[in-house]
Amino acid sequence: MDIVVLVSGRGSNLKAICDAIDAGTCDTSVVGVVSDRAKAAALELAEKRGIATRVLPLRKGDDRAAWNEALAEEVAAFEPALVVLAGFMRVLGAPLLRRFPGRIINVHPALLPSFPGHDAPQEAIDGAVRISGCTVHIVDAGVDTGPIIAQAAVPVLGGDTAATLHARIQVQEHRLLPRVIHQIAIGAITLEPLMVNTPVADPTRSLTVPDL
Ligand code: GRF
Repeated sequence: MDIVVLVSGRGSNLKAICDAIDAGTCDTSVVGVVSDRAKAAALELAEKRGIATRVLPLRKGDDRAAWNEALAEEVAAFEPALVVLAGFMRVLGAPLLRRFPGRIINVHPALLPSFPGHDAPQEAIDGAVRISGCTVHIVDAGVDTGPIIAQAAVPVLGGDTAATLHARIQVQEHRLLPRVIHQIAIGAITLEPLMVNTPVADPTRSLTVPDL
């Protein structure tokens, strides 16, 4: 299964996907990496592996609608079966969502529907929760609101900072995201039934995920 990975930053999830491919545990091929930031370390990682990269910066005052169209064009040109958001810090517009309905997934550093948005580890600490984790979900037009595919939990420890909690969550992200991609690739997870318009909190949604 060909995938395109969208990134904005460090790229540790991209690395986890590539490592799983190398280890033979993720039956997929990263055909392109697209970033909205030219300086994203994830781009270096992709280039070292010979993966095609594209950079589409969005600056203040830029035409957002045009950027969304260009992003959809760039991603679609790779003809991926699945688009993976791995630390991509932009909300997707309609053009990309329309091209890949139910075929875009994201990894988020909290147990959704708790703590959506860009500051999830800090909000988990501020909320004094005792368990947090990560969620892999289908992307819809909202911010971290799409149907949940799989989750992994971690404890929130006394003395945790956002950084220490995020680091603990990322260990689980690196395990969960490649596994979900693999299971989609081999047909063990089917995304279409998850797209049924039921409340995000419906627990039956994640029961279609075997063996995680
Ligand atoms: C991850 O924690 C992910 O959950 C969030 O952004 C972070 C990206 O990390 N969406 P990296 O760039 O993959 O290291």
